[in-house]
Amino acid sequence: MISSRCAACHGSYLPPGGLDLSSPEVAEQGLLSGRSSFAARAPAYVVPGHHAASYLLHKVLGLPGTWGDPVPLAGQWPSDRACGSADPDLRLLADWIDGL
Ligand code: HEC
Repeated sequence: MISSRCAACHGSYLPPGGLDLSSPEVAEQGLLSGRSSFAARAPAYVVPGHHAASYLLHKVLGLPGTWGDPVPLAGQWPSDRACGSADPDLRLLADWIDGL
């Protein structure tokens, strides 16, 4: 899911936010050890066991307090939200964090 929906942008030589999501291993490492390079005082990308406290979920949902646009910028998630259907990949991300 990360490789199909995130790696196109976060897999280049200089990935946005310094966040390389080009492979599951690299993505996991970056997400588990990193935090936003833009948003001041943001929580860690991933707070193990607590998806609601994790900046990754805040960012993907475009919650207040996040810096920039919701991700993926050119993807379908914002319109998914607009028509009220929850994207199953959101559940996937949240479950991954809760299981850590
Ligand atoms: C169309 C290109 C694109 C796609 C696809 C994309 N991103 Fe991003 N992402 C960006 C850009 C550009 C930024 C930096 C600007 C911003 O935050 O708005 C960014 C920033 C981020 C940040 C914040 C980095 C920071 O330092 O604050 C996170 C977290 C993130 N993306 C995660 C993801 C995840 C997870 C996915 C897949 C679900 C994804 N992105 C898909 C382009 C993309």
